[in-house]
Amino acid sequence: MKRREFIKNTGLGAGGILTVGSVATILAACNKNNMMNGNGMNMGGQAVPVTEGDFSRLLPVPNTVTGTAALTAQATTANINGSNISVLGYQANGILGPTIRANSGINTNINFQNSLSEKTNIHWHGLKIPANMDGHPEALVNPGSSFNYQFNINQRAGLNWYHPHPDGATARQAFQGLAGLFIINDAEEAALNLPSGIYEIPLVIQDKRLTSSGITYNPSMGEVMSGYMGETIIVNGEASPYTEVATKFYRLRILNGSNARIYNLALSNNADLIIIGNDGGLLKNPVSAKNILLAPGERLDVLVNFAGATLGAQIFLESRMYDNGGTSQGKQGFKIMKFKVTQTVSDSFIVPASLSAVNTIPASSSSKTRNFVINAMQMTSGMNMTGIHRINDKTYDKNRIDETVAANATEIWVFDNSQGDEPHPMHLHGVHFQVLERNGGRAQLTASESGWKDTVLVMPRETVKIIIPFSTLAGVFVFHCHNLEHEDDGMMLQYQLT
Ligand code: C2O
Ligand code: CU
Repeated sequence: MKRREFIKNTGLGAGGILTVGSVATILAACNKNNMMNGNGMNMGGQAVPVTEGDFSRLLPVPNTVTGTAALTAQATTANINGSNISVLGYQANGILGPTIRANSGINTNINFQNSLSEKTNIHWHGLKIPANMDGHPEALVNPGSSFNYQFNINQRAGLNWYHPHPDGATARQAFQGLAGLFIINDAEEAALNLPSGIYEIPLVIQDKRLTSSGITYNPSMGEVMSGYMGETIIVNGEASPYTEVATKFYRLRILNGSNARIYNLALSNNADLIIIGNDGGLLKNPVSAKNILLAPGERLDVLVNFAGATLGAQIFLESRMYDNGGTSQGKQGFKIMKFKVTQTVSDSFIVPASLSAVNTIPASSSSKTRNFVINAMQMTSGMNMTGIHRINDKTYDKNRIDETVAANATEIWVFDNSQGDEPHPMHLHGVHFQVLERNGGRAQLTASESGWKDTVLVMPRETVKIIIPFSTLAGVFVFHCHNLEHEDDGMMLQYQLT
């Protein structure tokens, strides 16, 4: 069932119209779910508290395939936290699909088989590819059918990922397990001799709601507002895992593959996170931070030096509390995974002072500015309970093109959450962009927001301005909030590149 239909069917009034009586119902439900936050009515519920495990299970690393691969979306099982549970996967046994690793310039041929009992597709998040290969919410593969995703990789090195994108079912399918990494390599990156092999560790961080038999996905009204969160943090498909490390530099390739949860990543020994890349690949220069926010859909490429650690030391990757702008998240700190230092080695690696040629796009090169007010409708009697999350007061309509953009144009897009009370990580398909400025709220760019991005976090009270050099890939693409409950609730519009 689609999210918006689901909401219609939750008894909130005939035809989805909210009556005065059902306001009382919602308020009662809100109270039950602890949705009052001290500032009065807050329709975004409290984040589900995280329950840490014991960090006794080994961190799995997804298997790697090339750009010529076969993926089968299927119901399968995964062993998480010692239990074999039902999940969805892009391969048998386990929750993550294989990591696709390919050199820039190659042509992919990915044979996708849909063995689910419902429609699905694949969106290649971060890849600048033609619209008909991009996994548009209406470009679906029927159950029992297959589709060949073929495209040229025409972009720089970076950590991308793939996940389903069917309108109204993206959040559920992704939460049930459908996701995988897509790493692009190129010569510029190779020349840096960054830590590689076992010293380059992909980390897909997700929160799940686990039972002894599977993953629960049944968001309440409040959880459509806040986004659906889980009590168990898994990394690469295992709950609270550990990995053994040597006293040297590691390269951590981190994806926040959660539906809604934002992490404030830090190391428990307060060591530097040396940020070398983000969504769109390498930064121009490395920048060190003690902690960094990572919203759903965003990626981080980080160097961590365990050289100073003593043998036997236990260092945790954790999420720290953060100023949440009055929203439900950020009020709890928790550990995500453990690094156990088990080997002393010598390491001659030196962090390169300069990483990549990143040209700053001047604001003056923009030919047009588009403004997007992003927020949730205020609760009033008589309002329609479907499509609460909106962009310019609109929800997703497959039959409507919201923005028409000329091929090769450079434009400034402004995401205005100044009146909103929820975080919205905004993602554009088909492009990489640069973040120009953030006003209100945090009022500045973070250490990981230089270089190229495809998803940018807009916290409550913030207005964020980005600059986008569009390509010549004519076609219809979507842009949306990557809180997947918001997205399935309709917080997604279409732009057509002509
Ligand atoms: Cu990862 Cu349309 O999103
Ligand atoms: Cu949102």
